Amino acid sequence: MRVTINQIKEMKQKGEKITMLTAYDYSTAKIIDEVGIPLILVGDSLGMVVLGYESTIPVTIEEMLHHTKAVVRGTKQTMVVGDMPFMTYHVSVEDALRNAARFIQEGGAQAIKLEGGVTVAEKVRRIIECGIPVMGHIGLTPQSIHQFGGFKVQGKTPEAATRLLKDAQALEESGAFAIVLETVPTPLATLITQKLSIPTIGIGAGIGCDGQVQVINDILGSFADFVPKHAKQYAKLGDIMSSAIAKYYNEVKAGKFPTDKQSFSMDESILAELTK
Ligand code: KIV
Repeated sequence: MRVTINQIKEMKQKGEKITMLTAYDYSTAKIIDEVGIPLILVGDSLGMVVLGYESTIPVTIEEMLHHTKAVVRGTKQTMVVGDMPFMTYHVSVEDALRNAARFIQEGGAQAIKLEGGVTVAEKVRRIIECGIPVMGHIGLTPQSIHQFGGFKVQGKTPEAATRLLKDAQALEESGAFAIVLETVPTPLATLITQKLSIPTIGIGAGIGCDGQVQVINDILGSFADFVPKHAKQYAKLGDIMSSAIAKYYNEVKAGKFPTDKQSFSMDESILAELTK
């Protein structure tokens, strides 16, 4: 049985911390699932850490669905949340419903995530009415990076803090089952968490949130372009990969790979017939 939205909501009530990680492929998703992490986000961070775009803005729904399907194939228990990319839920409610449905019907995800608060609340409500669970995402929402003028901490002025609280409450009222708080000062994220009955999942929002989400490449140290302040590297996979690739390169060049262990034999008499 896969993790359900009710189980995620109950975790807040029980004071159990919620862990979410991003994944974009079958093999990684399988490991996360086996570890027992309850939530995987197929984030549109895909665009930056896998596809090499400068931001999440160029990511298309086709790219997201392709990777969502792979992640779903790698999981048995984890709930998979598909991230709706830029402009797939902004134009109209109809558009938002149709695209959210694609994540569930074609992608096989169990829920979708979208960015925004008060401005997307009506769309959230309508998507949920169609039976699709929605995770909200407020604070530093990367799809609005040009509007923010860069990757800046959100909610630092009285107006911005009030706006964020209202956004969180609007999402809760619309029926979202959880909300990602990204790059928000710890005291404000803690206050929002206390005021909501649904879980908050922080990324750069401090210890007071009900859960945490990280981009898998950041915690594994496999994305070298930059390390965000909110990320802790639990491994340096980039260094391990670089050294393994260099060893392979050198062994091929030196004629040391493959050995008999990686090769296949055949009946010598067949070969003898061929060389007659
Ligand atoms: O796309 C993503 O990975 C995200 C997380 C950072 C929350 O939205």
